[in-house]
Order: sequence, then C-alpha cells, then structure tokens
Amino acid sequence: MGNAVTVEAGAQRTPAAVTDNRAVPPGPRGHPLVGNLPEFGRDLLGFLGECARDYGDVVGLRLAGYPTCFINHPDLIEDVLVTRSAQFRKHRFFWRHVESIFGNGLLTSEGDFWRRQRRLAQPAFHRERIAAYGTVMVAEAEQMLAGWGAEEERDIHEDLMGVTMRIVARTLFGADVAAEVEQIGASFEVVVQEIAVRFRRPFAVPDWVPLPSNLRYRRAVRQLDRLVYGIIRQPRREDADDLVALLRRARDEDGRGMSERQLRDEAVTIFLAGQETTALALSWAAALLAQHAPAQDALAAELDTVLAGREPAVSDLPRLRYTEAVILESMRLYPPAYVLGRESAVAGDIGPYRFPAGTTVFASPWVMHRDPRYFDRPAEFDPGRWLDGLAKRLPRFAYFPFGGGPRLCIGNSFAMMESTLILAALAQRFRWTLVPGHVLDTLASITLRPRFGVRLRLARRDPCPRPS
Ligand code: HEM
Repeated sequence: MGNAVTVEAGAQRTPAAVTDNRAVPPGPRGHPLVGNLPEFGRDLLGFLGECARDYGDVVGLRLAGYPTCFINHPDLIEDVLVTRSAQFRKHRFFWRHVESIFGNGLLTSEGDFWRRQRRLAQPAFHRERIAAYGTVMVAEAEQMLAGWGAEEERDIHEDLMGVTMRIVARTLFGADVAAEVEQIGASFEVVVQEIAVRFRRPFAVPDWVPLPSNLRYRRAVRQLDRLVYGIIRQPRREDADDLVALLRRARDEDGRGMSERQLRDEAVTIFLAGQETTALALSWAAALLAQHAPAQDALAAELDTVLAGREPAVSDLPRLRYTEAVILESMRLYPPAYVLGRESAVAGDIGPYRFPAGTTVFASPWVMHRDPRYFDRPAEFDPGRWLDGLAKRLPRFAYFPFGGGPRLCIGNSFAMMESTLILAALAQRFRWTLVPGHVLDTLASITLRPRFGVRLRLARRDPCPRPS
C-alpha cells in the first residue's frame, strides 16, 4: 500500500528466558538526553516494528527521562490491561496536556471516580440500547451518498469525517443540533489538531502561555463549552433517548446522578473518542478495498444478497458477515488507536524484568496485529480470514483494536455497528479505485490517519432502481 510501512513484528525474537530480575530489557540505545524521543518523532510506526523485531517481547526504551517498556506479547499485554490493571493508570505525561478539554471524562479519569462514571454510562452503550441509533447512522450515510453523481472523484476521508461527526452529534445530543453541528465540528477540529501537536512535544506548555496555538485552542474550548452547555441545558422530553439524555437520567445505587460539569466532560470525551476513530476505521477500509478488487466483489455480492437493493438496517447486521470482516481486517492492518499507554503506579515485574514505579508501559495494536506468530501472511489484506472463527482462536490480546480489560472502549459496539452500516450503504451503491498517483501513507498522530487523505474514483454500481 503506497509507501506505508510493512512490519513483520516478531520475525526474529531474542529468547525471553532471562529470569534475572535485575536484568535490563534489551532496546535501542537512544540519545543520552532525550532517549528514544527522536526515533518516535521520525517514523514511529517503523520504529515500533523494528523494536519488536530486533528486541522481542519486552523492549526497554527511554522517553525523555522516563523509563519506558514496550510489550509485544498477548500474555504480557493481558497482564497489564486486565490481570494487574489496578497497578497501572492512564498516562499522566500525555493526558495532562489536554485536561482543559477532556476534563474528568471516562477516557482520562481514574480510580473510584472513573469506576462510578463507567457504571453510570455503561447501560447507555449496551447493544440493545444503541440499536436505536442505527436509523440515524443509515439516514446520515444515505444523505451523504444522495448528493453523489454516477462518477465521482473524492477524498473519502473528508466525507467520512463529516458523516461520523453528524452521527455522533445527533446520537449524543439529539435530533435538534443541525444548526450547531458545523460550529461544533470546526471547534473540535482545532482542538484535535492542537492535541496532536501537544502529544508530540516532550514537555508541556501550560494553556495560559500566549502562544498563537494556545490562544486558538482556548478559543475553541470556550466555544465548545458554550455550545455543549447550551445543548445540555435545553429542556428535554422525558423519553428522549440521545446519549446525553440517557447519561443525565443515569443514577448510581445512592440515587445520585452526574453534575452538569461532569455531563459536559463525558459528552466532549465521547465526541472526541468516538468520531475520528470510526471515520478512520472506514477510511482505511475504503483505501484497502480500493486496491483489492476481489474483496470488493465479495462485499458487493454479500450486500446484493442480503439487502437486495434496500437500505441496510440494524436487523441485517448478523448476516453482513463479510462487511464486518472488512472492518475487522482493516482495523487489523490500520488500527485507529495504534498504541495504548499506561504508567505503573508501583514497582513490579513485567515478564522477566523489574521496573520502578512510574514506568511508562505501552503496547501497540499496529505491531501485534502484524505479528506472524498469530497471523498468516500478516501484511496481506484478507477479510476472509475472519470468517472461520479466527477471533475465537487468537490469544485475547493478539487483536485488540478497542483495548481490553476494565478500560475497554465503551463505544466498541457503537463503532462496529456504525462502520458496518456505513460501509454497507457505500459499497452497495459504488465501486472504487484509488485516484492514479494518489499516495497513501500513514500519519501516526493521536490516531492513525491517512497522511494525504484517501482520494478515490467512485463509479455507481447500482443499475437497478432502489425502492423509494
Ligand atoms: C473504530 C472506532 C474506535 C476505536 C478503534 C476505539 C478505540 C478505543 C480504545 C483502544 C480505547 C481504550 C484506550 C485505553 O485503554 O487506553 C477506547 C476507549 C474509549 N472509547 Fe473508543 N474507539 C472507537 C470508537 C468509539 C466510539 C464510537 C465511542 C463513543 C461513542 C468511544 C468512546 C470511548 C470512551 C469513552 C473510551 C474510554 C473508556 C474508559 O476508559 O472507560 N470509542 N477506545
């Protein structure tokens, strides 16, 4: 694919049979002052792949002054994310840069506070509950497609960012936000750009420093707050079923709900955590399909059989198995959340090595998903691999696009439903190839983006009139 990086992680392994707890895990030497930060900035994905290939399951790194451990084995990842999750917290070094936007929302909060919020929010994300959002998802996808001609050249990534934004706005805030959607989207865009810059800086610049970028960011956060509080404060019908309404009605065992401030933090967090990630899963799926005509044929055949020309619906999902497999396979090769980080709260062992409290530990779906120990022909796009029960045979953390353990993505069913329905609507009506000369490349920002977008040449494939 274009000049994107191909990593066959784990091809050469150093034996991890060392049992001396004082041993230092092998790893690239790095700069005396800033450690391995320059490699991170230069070609992060390539660097992670090389680390796994050259140093094995536990790689010792240094990021600025921080001891860092990169783990590349499903059992070690399970140990950190599930078994000993209480000993690891979200990474302060990264998240303190962006407290003013996320506040104390689910993605960044910790401990008892996070546990209570997760318990309050969980019912709103149950599969049956979110099924009601399927109609919004399909309606928005159909509206996007309705404006397209028989032949189109488009950056599908832009389209998908737009449609996922309208969907999250409507499902979060209810149907009446049409007027605000554009402003919300524009403010979020400024915020996301700034977060991407901040995550790459080795040091934090407080929000009050009057850099032009900080001023823009603060203005965007203020505008978002105004819009979000405005929406939250609107009176709602008793039976409103948007996510904010559900979160507002949620009560813990003592009958207590969320404050307005907390509702704002959760709404903004869900918007930021859920919109771009889903757009990316779809953008990479479209990019991969553009280069694999047989996969597009198989997808079109399934859609014609199951849908026979009508709009997709949530009730079709159990039969859209190949469509779902395309999404799973795209997230295998291009996981939107390509690296997950934690910080150890106490000293402890990771594999055969001992680490001090405060060690940064991270794992990378990008690397694990391309590991030949778990995936045959790891660099090949083959949705069919998911159709014969592969997900059940794999070790739990060989494939983890949504993370796992207590901090598993709360929106995973929402994301799978949304991406499968949108892909179904798109591929039912169009076939596509890449625009000749378009370069597909990765940009490892906070999420894994297509650096130059995904420029497609689309042709309508639906000659039969659709039922009105
Ligand atoms: C393809 C799309 C998506 C991907 C790849 C994705 C990935 C992830 C991952 C990997 C995590 C765990 C991060 C960690 O452990 O450090 C996470 C957490 C989270 N995601 Fe998603 N996500 C997606 C869509 C969504 C959607 C649609 C929503 C909401 C509607 C959402 C809301 C959240 C929230 C609130 C958390 C924090 C959960 C907690 O810590 O309790 N995500 N996501």
